[in-house]
Amino acid sequence: MSAMAKKLSIERILHNQGFGSRKLCRILVINEEVTVNGELCDDPDTTFELENLHYTIKGEAWVYHEKSYLMMHKPSNYECSHKTQHHPTIYSLLPHPLVERGVQCIGRLDEDTTGLILISDDGQFIHRMSSPKHKVPKVYEVTCKHAVSDEQIAHILKGVQLVDEDAPIAALACTKINDHVIHMTLAEGKYHQVKRMVAAISNRVEALKRIKIGRLELPQDLKVGEWRWLSASDLNALQADGQNQ
Ligand code: URA
Repeated sequence: MSAMAKKLSIERILHNQGFGSRKLCRILVINEEVTVNGELCDDPDTTFELENLHYTIKGEAWVYHEKSYLMMHKPSNYECSHKTQHHPTIYSLLPHPLVERGVQCIGRLDEDTTGLILISDDGQFIHRMSSPKHKVPKVYEVTCKHAVSDEQIAHILKGVQLVDEDAPIAALACTKINDHVIHMTLAEGKYHQVKRMVAAISNRVEALKRIKIGRLELPQDLKVGEWRWLSASDLNALQADGQNQ
């Protein structure tokens, strides 16, 4: 059923959107802490259409989203896992209700890597975007310790042999931005892939930032540590990227 035709009680809506147990959501409404589409709602059984539903809880504004599709500008020294070992988790940068909904990041970045990461609670979307079958290209801005030579670029484009891989792996594209910085496009997301490929050409990664996934670029105005909902056009572009065979 499309969200357009669907109606649900406010108690269920809040529960589905990650605001706690049904009982807790009921109490929020009865305690007059919830407004819906601009009006106070104190009856937890009142039903609302889900399309374009705006609500506030304790004064904080929210919009109904059937599923969560987010992008984040990952900072350094954050880990992409729910249970972290040495650093805070990137999920601590999201509002608690989104984490409650069970969002996962799509492909992990190393703790010292910054840049674009996608986060969702839609299992099919996560699978499509991360499956090696669909080869969604990712672009990395790589700052190298030593000046990058044309031979090194040619080597990356021809393919480098990594330990534990059967065949050499080549970047889809590799362009020099300045002596020490290259942009590298990869079709795969293997463990430490950029760092291992750069090590294989006798250089070393000093800083790594993901700047593009499929057609989606890291927006200039999304600051380090910030996140935002994907727009309908971001999602359409990514859905098309996820259809690649
Ligand atoms: N390649 C790496 O080496 N690290 C990342 O975080 C992403 C790609």
